[in-house]
Formats: sequence, structure tokens, C-alpha cells
Amino acid sequence: MKQWLHTDRIIAPSLLAADFGRIKEETTRAIHSGGDWLHLDVMDGNFVDNISFGPAIIQAIHETNDVFLDVHLMISRPDHYLPRFVEAGADMITVHLEAEHDVAETLRRTREAGCKAGLAINPATPLEKALPFLDQIDMLLVMTVVPGFGGQSFMHETMAKVEAAVTHREKNDLNYHIQVDGGIDAATAPIAATAGANVFVAGSSTFRAPDMAEAIQQIRQA
Ligand code: DX5
Ligand code: ZN
Repeated sequence: MKQWLHTDRIIAPSLLAADFGRIKEETTRAIHSGGDWLHLDVMDGNFVDNISFGPAIIQAIHETNDVFLDVHLMISRPDHYLPRFVEAGADMITVHLEAEHDVAETLRRTREAGCKAGLAINPATPLEKALPFLDQIDMLLVMTVVPGFGGQSFMHETMAKVEAAVTHREKNDLNYHIQVDGGIDAATAPIAATAGANVFVAGSSTFRAPDMAEAIQQIRQA
């Protein structure tokens, strides 16, 4: 097993852009095309203006393969639903700082349940608000679009937060991954990589590419 923080890029295709009528085949396609993790966007129609899928779908995916399940909870009460996602087979659970919960307590419970703990911040949320929690996480997700929908444009202005998160990590000898999510493709991945991100979520640019393996390879090498 690789040490947690390493320099290789991790590519996480987002299932939100898959054909929902063929979820299991789409999962297999992402793995066979070279996806390192599978990114699963859970939306409750309240925290964000969209509804996607919940623990039952995640469990079905978990039962068919061993890929690392990176669960991104865009829900108002992640603390309430946390045990159901643990039970469903999530490997990492990322919760939003902006949701209604005791953030430190949710992160603590996530790790106690044996999952990696991620913390997400929206484009409008300054990194300063996340600083008190960065010693309690395995990954910081810097949203590069306003969450809710796939297919939006990458927001360059969020890169200052990625750079500041790298500086903070070095200064404090921490080891969280830095993930970017939204509008990531072969053109924007190098911008985020230069800023210091190492985990790249990509929905439209992978699942909807004519050749998914080539698209993932391009994001990895760009
Ligand atoms: C946005 C989601 C993303 C989404 C990214 O709210 O968190 O994970 O799937 O989609 P693309 O890569 O199409 O911007
Ligand atoms: Zn996401």
C-alpha cells in the first residue's frame, strides 16, 4: 500500500456524468480506463439544487468491485447520514464545511468508523474557515465550481486557496491530499497541478469523452 500522501496524480472519474441506466458497466468502464478512484456525488436537493443518488447505489457499486470509493456528500446533514455511507462501503467521505453540523465531530466520527475524512469548501468559502480542521483530515476538496451540477466551467480564482493549502500543509507538517472538483479536463488539470492539487475529479471530460482511457491519460499527463 502506497503511503497516503504521494506525488503521483490521482484521477477520480465522477459517476455523475455516467449513463445512470448502466451504472455497473459504467463503473467497470471507469476502472478499466485507468481511473484510480471513483468519485460519487451525493446531492440532497437541499444543500445543492440537484438530487443524485444515495447509499443504496453506492452499496451496489461496492459489491461489484474493489475500487476506492470517494464519496462527496453535498447534503445539509452529513452527520445524520454518515453511518449509512460507512455501511454502504465508502472508503473516503468528504463533507462540506458549509453544511449544518459540528464539523470536527463529523470528521472524528468518519475516521473512527475506519474511513478517510475529507473536507470540502465552496468557491465562496475562504480557506481561513477550514484552517482549524486541517489537522483532522485526509483530504481537502477545493471546489472549482459551485457544487450541484456537472459540466460547469473551472473557476481559476479558486487556485489561490490550493496554493495557500499547500503552504499551510508544509508549515504544519500535515499530509492531506488536495482535491479539485469541477470543470477539470486536460486543459485545466495542469493549472490545478501547478497550484498544488494532486487529486483530480473529472466527470464530463472522462465519461463523455469518445475514448475514456485516452481522456484519463491526458488528465494524468497534461
Ligand atoms: C459538482 C460535483 C462534481 C461533478 C463534476 O457539484 O461535485 O463532482 O461531477 O463534474 P464535471 O467534471 O463535469 O465538472
Ligand atoms: Zn464532486
